[in-house]
Amino acid sequence: MTTYGPETYGERNADVYDEWHADLDPTDAVDCLADLIGHGPAGPVLELAVGTGRVTIPLAARGIDLRGIDASEAMVARMRAKPGGDRIPVTIGDMADVDPGTDDRFAMVFVVFTTFFFLMTQEEQVRCFANVARRLLPGGLFVLECLVPDLARYQRQQSVDAHRVDHDHVRLVAVRHDPVDQRFDGQHILIGNDGMRLAPVSMRYAWPSELDLMARLAGLRRRHRWGGWRREPYLGTGTHVTVYDNPAGSDA
Ligand SMILES: C[S@@+](CC[C@H](N)C(=O)[O-])C[C@H]1O[C@@H](n2cnc3c(N)ncnc32)[C@H](O)[C@@H]1O
Repeated sequence: MTTYGPETYGERNADVYDEWHADLDPTDAVDCLADLIGHGPAGPVLELAVGTGRVTIPLAARGIDLRGIDASEAMVARMRAKPGGDRIPVTIGDMADVDPGTDDRFAMVFVVFTTFFFLMTQEEQVRCFANVARRLLPGGLFVLECLVPDLARYQRQQSVDAHRVDHDHVRLVAVRHDPVDQRFDGQHILIGNDGMRLAPVSMRYAWPSELDLMARLAGLRRRHRWGGWRREPYLGTGTHVTVYDNPAGSDA
């Protein structure tokens, strides 16, 4: 069995990532992030796990000084091939380190699309919060978009969903749930007339309250929790967008 490291998801998914997520419109995320940036301190902005630039490229197009970190060369190569993507400095590395290769401190650090859960242990997630806090300017923001875990989806700790069925392909997603380590280990299984391919994805999920505690340990404070990028009320299910800040004047 091959080992699963920080780069595995990107290296195994880069060629299909944009096609499989073509229906994900980043406009609401970009609008909300741009508004938060406009009301925060002046300074550069960092996306953790920038991927193929789905959010960062349109955000940079609004004149924001963006940087990125990602573990996968293959994902970043896709981003650099897009218009505007080659102008955004990206460091290849583990987002838990929050090391953009410079001494910069940021007006905002953000991580979208539940990608924070790609840090596979609580220890790595706590370390990421601490490193983000170290990198934020006073008044700077840490913004996360994460799924609220829905454990009712898993019967006998597993699920199989048909994500797409057309005349030539079937895309199934098979997931096993480990309630002890709060892990989902999954495979996207694409079956077609030309064969089959596997695209793995593993996550360590955290409850919103656990994220709040990680933030508090890092010296950050929760400012907002919404049910989505349009600042919908958070009702405890689906997705949450949470904004933490580095209390003004604090060198967290
Ligand atoms: C689901 S994609 C999200 C990409 C982009 N942020 C978006 O919203 O489309 C997950 C990304 O996380 C990256 N990744 C996974 N684990 C990582 C880690 N430990 N450090 C840095 N990047 C990581 C992958 O390479 C991939 O580009």
